[in-house]
Amino acid sequence: MSFLRGWPGRLFLSHLLTAALTAAALITTALLLAPLAFRRMLHGMMAGMMDRFLRHAFAQALHQGVWAAAGAAILLATAASLLLARRLAGPLARLRDATLAVAAGDFAQRVPAKGDDEIAQLARSFNRMAEQLEQSRKAQRELTANVLHELGTPLSTLQGYLEGMQDEVVPLDPASLAVLQRETRRLSRLVRDLRLADQAEEGRVSVELQPVLLPSFLEDTRRKFLPRAAAGSVSLAVSCPEGLPVRADPDRLGEVLDNLLENALVHTPAGGHINLSARREGDQVRIAVSDSGGGIPPEHLPHVFERFYRADPGRARTQGGSGLGLAIAKGLTEAQGGRVEAASTPGQGSTFAVVLPCADDAGPPQRR
Ligand SMILES: Nc1ncnc2c1ncn2[C@@H]1O[C@H](COP(=O)(O)OP(=O)(O)OP(=O)(O)O)[C@@H](O)[C@H]1O
Ligand SMILES: [Mg+2]
Repeated sequence: MSFLRGWPGRLFLSHLLTAALTAAALITTALLLAPLAFRRMLHGMMAGMMDRFLRHAFAQALHQGVWAAAGAAILLATAASLLLARRLAGPLARLRDATLAVAAGDFAQRVPAKGDDEIAQLARSFNRMAEQLEQSRKAQRELTANVLHELGTPLSTLQGYLEGMQDEVVPLDPASLAVLQRETRRLSRLVRDLRLADQAEEGRVSVELQPVLLPSFLEDTRRKFLPRAAAGSVSLAVSCPEGLPVRADPDRLGEVLDNLLENALVHTPAGGHINLSARREGDQVRIAVSDSGGGIPPEHLPHVFERFYRADPGRARTQGGSGLGLAIAKGLTEAQGGRVEAASTPGQGSTFAVVLPCADDAGPPQRR
């Protein structure tokens, strides 16, 4: 019965109606007009001629009746078809024009979508598609603008130094070469991070999941960051239950934790604390990096995993950040079947967590 509610049902009903009207007109006209005409023909004829003219008169009357009925049926069918064609053609023509406009790059096109029939549903689907295209073009433009912006600073520094050296206003000494090297490294890192963020977000990174014993893994991570933490007078502690195993790719998990710890170190002032912890939650493991740094304002928190997003652009730029680290961490964690979470209290600190499946049958520990 749902078929009768949509356009196919309406088409069917309207054609059925046309056919029924045609038949009704034909039958009514033939039954009413033919006997009338027949009687008129017979009137005034002589009785003897009855037999000879009877068939001729009846045939003529029937012809008149049928032609009148056919004319009425054609008129009715034309009116019904015109009405139907107009109701169908209007929205379809609007959809056709809007599709052509979108194909020509005008993604702001929308079509009216009233009702709940198939044409209205098609119009709504079209509007959704146009909206998504508009959003992805906006994201593409933002990405291009961000990449150009990030490339701009190191490139102009390099250009300035090289021109200065050519004009002999900048000395070709180890200090200048160190600046050139730093900016070149920054460019290489940007290219590497962009590629990785792209691959991670599209799920194109290769991961080799295996049981990883977290106590030794986290201890190795701590050892790696200890010199930097000590240089910044920040304490770095690890807390993890004995033998806790996680199912992850050790290299990818290492990259994720590196990004979280880099951020924690950048945002934690001297005398602060960073804690690297892991605990079991049902059949999952939660690995968290908590710091006692400045925290992230609530309006920024939902966006920190977006590419190029920086809650504090001025500070991040002086620290060399491009706003890609957390986007990479999120993509790499999701590629391992996990998820990332962020919580923060401005003025008190932040906690970034990676939640991954637990691996109860962990084999020998994987070291970094
Ligand atoms: N632990 C933290 N404490 C306070 N703010 C943070 C912390 N971690 C991230 N943020 C905020 O989130 C933003 C995004 O972090 P993300 O790691 O993606 O980029 P970045 O560190 O600026 O640059 P990159 O990691 O590419 O070098 C940072 O710029 C910072 O404003
Ligand atoms: Mg970072």
